[in-house]
Amino acid sequence: MMKKIVSSLLITAAALLISPLSAQGQEITYNSHVANIINENCVVCHREGGIGPMQFENFDQVRPWAPLISLKVASREMPPYAYDHGIGIQELEGDWRLAQEEIDTIVEWVNQGSPLGDLDIVPIMPELPDPSDWNFAQQFGEPDLIVASVPMDIPANGNDLWSRHYVPIGVTADRCLKAVQVKPRGDAKAVVHHANSRIKLNNEEGEIENVSMLTEYAMGKWGELIPEGVCRTIPADSFIEWNIHMFPGGVGATAQGEVIEDNVVEIGLWLHDENFAETAGLYQQDLKSYPLRDGYENGNLIIPPHGYTMTQGFHSFDHPIRIDSFQPHGHLRMNAASLEVFYPETGRTEQISQISNWSATWHHSHIYEPDVAPLIPKGAVLVIKQWYDNTADNPNNPDPDQWVVGGSRTGDEMSHAWIAITHLDDEGFDKLVSEREEKEQRSLASQD
Ligand code: HEC
Repeated sequence: MMKKIVSSLLITAAALLISPLSAQGQEITYNSHVANIINENCVVCHREGGIGPMQFENFDQVRPWAPLISLKVASREMPPYAYDHGIGIQELEGDWRLAQEEIDTIVEWVNQGSPLGDLDIVPIMPELPDPSDWNFAQQFGEPDLIVASVPMDIPANGNDLWSRHYVPIGVTADRCLKAVQVKPRGDAKAVVHHANSRIKLNNEEGEIENVSMLTEYAMGKWGELIPEGVCRTIPADSFIEWNIHMFPGGVGATAQGEVIEDNVVEIGLWLHDENFAETAGLYQQDLKSYPLRDGYENGNLIIPPHGYTMTQGFHSFDHPIRIDSFQPHGHLRMNAASLEVFYPETGRTEQISQISNWSATWHHSHIYEPDVAPLIPKGAVLVIKQWYDNTADNPNNPDPDQWVVGGSRTGDEMSHAWIAITHLDDEGFDKLVSEREEKEQRSLASQD
């Protein structure tokens, strides 16, 4: 599956050799060991025109940064994908994390003085898409539809700005979504804090009716894939309600008093064929925001100066479900989040996901691989927890002397999680459970 960002983009995956750090004392060199790790995991962003602040396309570019690279990979800040190892489900689609062995190799290389190595060995550079391409273009081609928001001017200074408006999607028959990516166009990249898109319809009374969430975008988000065999419906004649949050001063280089004009956010939609839903008799999948109520919606989310707080939310369903993805949401004081499932009949709690190093610069929808996406029986309870650190120990905290409250400005806090769920019935649930058991038995048998 899409293990690493670029592995899905490779012409021949076999051409890539990830050299393991073998016996201690071995010389680790750029050409033999490190280049492949960097080319496969870092260059997609760290190259000319990429979003990273420096380029890592060859030894000369990498070498000056070697000590910082060692620090950033050892702390797992780079590649930017915060998701705990060893807690809950580890098989994720589009997982950018390095393997421990790869981290050890880079660290050891830097400890040894970051040598170039054998000149006869030429590291392989995977073929990378153009940085302005759509992220799913290599898999699915160009989006079937691109829906742009209404242009908005953003001053270089001032308060946060919001825009809420409607744009027709342009589908004339019900369609199932395959993948979706939101992409701020040009300069907008630096000023768009988040952009939520909801699907709406006019009902028979001519009123606007909410259908579902389309997708959520926040800085650093890659996109969303809908798992095979389910339908996230985009109804005929529906339209998008954009809810875009921009903040001035995002573009550091912009002069005081200047205006960044015509900021546009685009949404790329990849769709299944028109008759996809009918032929497959599919279950519906949706993406929703699940609030964490305690200390927030019922009361107020309040984090005292130099203090901590935690929120918790519970959600259960009157039918079985499959959890397809999980994306916690908070701002600068949120430092961690988790998802668990509580089974009332056994009293057991199962950990599904934990993100201990949350950062608001990178928002990921953690998509569970189809064979491990949690199958949850009716009545079991999703338990979502998020915790907040308003002390000076939190590296993202701009000001620990502030009282922080719930709200949508960047300096406020939020407490909800985006969860994609496939809604099953008993029959569909049993089928998925027995398919998994069979698969497991087959793989056990093949190991004997
Ligand atoms: C998805 C894009 C992306 C990928 C993949 C990525 N980076 Fe980065 N990197 C960034 C961005 C953007 C920044 C600057 C902002 C930040 O630090 O988040 C950055 C910053 C850095 C910095 C500078 C940090 C600092 O404190 O100045 C280093 C070093 C770095 N990356 C190394 C790596 C290495 C090594 C890899 C691969 C193992 C990697 N990055 C993969 C986007 C990426």
